[in-house]
Amino acid sequence: MLRKNKTLGEFIIENQTSFKYTSGELSRLINSIRLAAKVVNHEVNKAGLVDIIGAAGDTNIQGEDQQKLDVYANEKFIQTLKNRNIVCGIASEEEDSFISINSQDKNNQNKYVVLIDPLDGSSNIDVNVSVGSIFSIYRRVSPVGTPVTLEDFLQKGNQQVAAGYIVYGTSTMLVYTTGDGVNGFTLNPAIGTFYLSHPNMEFPQDGHIYSVNEGNYIHFPKGIKDYIKYCQMEEEDRPYTSRYIGSLVSDFHRNMIKGGIYLYPKSSKTSDGKLRLLYECNPMAFLAEQAKGKASDGFTRIMDIEPTELHQRVPFICGSKNMVEKAEEFMRNAQ
Ligand code: AHG
Ligand code: MN
Ligand code: MN
Repeated sequence: MLRKNKTLGEFIIENQTSFKYTSGELSRLINSIRLAAKVVNHEVNKAGLVDIIGAAGDTNIQGEDQQKLDVYANEKFIQTLKNRNIVCGIASEEEDSFISINSQDKNNQNKYVVLIDPLDGSSNIDVNVSVGSIFSIYRRVSPVGTPVTLEDFLQKGNQQVAAGYIVYGTSTMLVYTTGDGVNGFTLNPAIGTFYLSHPNMEFPQDGHIYSVNEGNYIHFPKGIKDYIKYCQMEEEDRPYTSRYIGSLVSDFHRNMIKGGIYLYPKSSKTSDGKLRLLYECNPMAFLAEQAKGKASDGFTRIMDIEPTELHQRVPFICGSKNMVEKAEEFMRNAQ
């Protein structure tokens, strides 16, 4: 039975024994992410106060403008995980290639790699709209004590050991799964402690919200256009409500609580959509399924897609199970 005033620290310790592997390494890793989340939260919250907003003048590997807070969050997550010597490798949306940690040290017995989108929805920062961070954890497949390899990161989403996000919204929440349901923790900023506020989070099986950047409508495939028209049709429980923040984390979080569907389809301009399989889609798909929702590229389960490169993009449809299945039906029928 979950007590509501439990702290994240207590929750991690209590649930340690339910992990498949109980060395405590995964618990320590989630604790490190908790720490990095607090540091980034502090910075995000003062973004309007200091001269930190605006583009850093650099572009990331995908050619997008990099905001200063992207760089900051990236550094903080990497630094925290490195300092605590808790993982053997990190891949980040903001880094060209993966980082191998202590690759020279034969005694490094760390088994886990972490993949991060350190700041999601970064274009929302300078307009004071909520953003997030996303993380995904795998056990390495290469031998422990050797430098990590690309194969350690290019694992299917169904191999994830844990995944989660932090949403820096009207309050800051850390939501994660280790494959045993989804739990959400709200930060009390006065004392810097996360409390279990949303035990056993679940998507309603149906919903009334659809989230998609409709400005791209003209470029969408027929199946998506048809589904959007279906959402807008006058029927018993429709038209649905349209809500699109432009931060995947925030849109997902709202849809999980209220019931809804998020779509970032491919278009005639972006053949694979925009979102990254490893840093965004897989962790959100793991959370969605653990919360009784669903995630698909329109035809295939996201977590069954074989990754071929670190920064791979895929079309992404995610949310309440019945809604995602309806969208898939439209995709099939438009074939
Ligand atoms: P990031 O800030 O990490 O690059 O991610 C932004 C992503 C996602 O969070 C959001 O839902 C989507 O891009 C918005 O894209 P559009 O502006 O094309 O709608
Ligand atoms: Mn992102
Ligand atoms: Mn990002």
